[in-house]
Amino acid sequence: MHNTKKITEDLFWIGANDRRIALFENIYPVPKGVSYNSYLLKDEKTVLLDTTDKAVSKQFFENLKYELGDRKLDYLIVNHMEPDHCALIDNLIEKYPEVKIVCNQKTLQMINQFFDFATEDKVQIIKEGDTLNTGKHTLTFVMAPMVHWPEAMVTYDMTDKILFSADAFGTFGAINGNIYADETDFEHELMDEARRYYTNIVGKYGTQVQALLKKASNIEIQMICPLHGQIWRTGIKTFIDKYEKWSTYTPEENSVLVIFGSIYGNTENAAEILASKLADRGIKNIKVINASSTHPSYIVAEAFRYSHIVFASSTYNAGIFTPIETILLDLKAHNFQNRTVAYMFNGTWAPFSETVLRGHLEAFKNSTIIENRVKITSTLKNSQEEEINSLVDEIVKSMPEEKKDTNALGKINYGLYLLSVKDDDKDNACIINTVTQVSENPKLITVAVNKQNYTHEILLRKKSFNISVLTEETPFSIFERFGYHSGKDTNKFEGFNDVEKAQNGILRLNKYSNSYISAKVISTIDCGTHTVFTAEVEDSKVLSNVPSVSYSYYFENIKPALKKPEEHIEGYVCKICGYVYEGKDIPKDFICPICKHGVEDFEKL
Ligand code: FEO
Repeated sequence: MHNTKKITEDLFWIGANDRRIALFENIYPVPKGVSYNSYLLKDEKTVLLDTTDKAVSKQFFENLKYELGDRKLDYLIVNHMEPDHCALIDNLIEKYPEVKIVCNQKTLQMINQFFDFATEDKVQIIKEGDTLNTGKHTLTFVMAPMVHWPEAMVTYDMTDKILFSADAFGTFGAINGNIYADETDFEHELMDEARRYYTNIVGKYGTQVQALLKKASNIEIQMICPLHGQIWRTGIKTFIDKYEKWSTYTPEENSVLVIFGSIYGNTENAAEILASKLADRGIKNIKVINASSTHPSYIVAEAFRYSHIVFASSTYNAGIFTPIETILLDLKAHNFQNRTVAYMFNGTWAPFSETVLRGHLEAFKNSTIIENRVKITSTLKNSQEEEINSLVDEIVKSMPEEKKDTNALGKINYGLYLLSVKDDDKDNACIINTVTQVSENPKLITVAVNKQNYTHEILLRKKSFNISVLTEETPFSIFERFGYHSGKDTNKFEGFNDVEKAQNGILRLNKYSNSYISAKVISTIDCGTHTVFTAEVEDSKVLSNVPSVSYSYYFENIKPALKKPEEHIEGYVCKICGYVYEGKDIPKDFICPICKHGVEDFEKL
């Protein structure tokens, strides 16, 4: 039976999963399977975007037949010629002889290499920037050489702003019914597999991925449809940010990955001791990996994640232990760079691994080798504690320094929330950054609200409120509307439709919010500029998996940069809303008349 997904009014996923495959490309373990995505656009013309692997041909052709119905297939766009996506082109031609293949010149060359059918009158050659009009839709093509083969390209639907990204933005793992990334717990369940897919499949081609990201930054993307794994329709920026890091070989974790190759456990013991001592020095999220029992693809992915890597290897055949050598060669093949590396080596009668090990490490571009190393002859001895301590010292010293900020309170992590209330005849809301669950049973939360806010006044009287948890996709206009004006002078909800009433009759956001909480105040504490309200949760609901916005994310990614006045004015500018206080000194108790923040949020012009 067919198994397809409607993505938009006229776009359909017609791919399939392979959960019986053990090794993708006959090299990478895929314990969660893999999906081969193919898309069918049913416009005035019908367009198939890539086929699938042979392993799922039955399901693919059944899906295609079902979605086409009695229509003919007009075009096949070939974004990528690797057989996990193009294997069925010849079968497709047999079944749909009228189909026109849309591809670039390099792709045509590969079609002729892989297949025997005559291509002369079957192919429409396109190049970068060419367009294909299919009725309502106009498709354009962007070359993406070496992401992951030289002929690779991506297709952009200019009408619906959908990027068919070929191998880019793919993920290992079959699709478990939920085809959209935002329907899954992607960060916890799938990000590791997305990283393993990226680093092993295209990790070598960081420069080429950067070139594609640069081209992509000039187009508006509403949805990304890759050839493997989930479709992205929200949180796209978060995933693109990961690609920025991976393709520039920038670590995600300032911590230490210890990879050991140990024959009888003695080198392993040294790796454990090192990790333990690093932890004692305050390093978090250290990871120790046994190279003998872990597939190299997992180790490559972790190496891309960590800033520091320590290799611990036994000597073997007068060189290094083979599993460690495999990893080093694999990392080198993936153009691995920008890291701090260190090593320990072991040997009972001829501890020769150092020279070979060091030679491999020196091949990593833009990387630093820590000079303190530990030589083990059979087992690490108590007398060597100083040696291992020196290595730990050097690693700790080389960790990137935390940004110095004398304002310790500025280090506290905050979220951002819309606090909404209802007066007798008026709805009002403001932006707050302090919502905390303080008890599980009963379910209690606290919110702190500035006394200057009109919302504060209503909340003291009416005692009921809703919290809408804002997401990273919240546009600046929402913060402007609810955070930069007073409800005393304006109706903040006028002309605003992205709301609905919760059970308590108070408005809550139905867009830009991943959840809401309705609560009733049970007590208050006067805290100077703010009142802390403790409230019992009456209702709550999760609305989406889009990440909650943090205070720092807002400042780095959402809030436009402040424009300083062109002529020099002596004064202070509010970092929150841009209000300018003119004068040599700002009073200590000054409150911004626009956003109600105090002097601590002003900086000198
Ligand atoms: Fe999924 Fe490069 O093929």
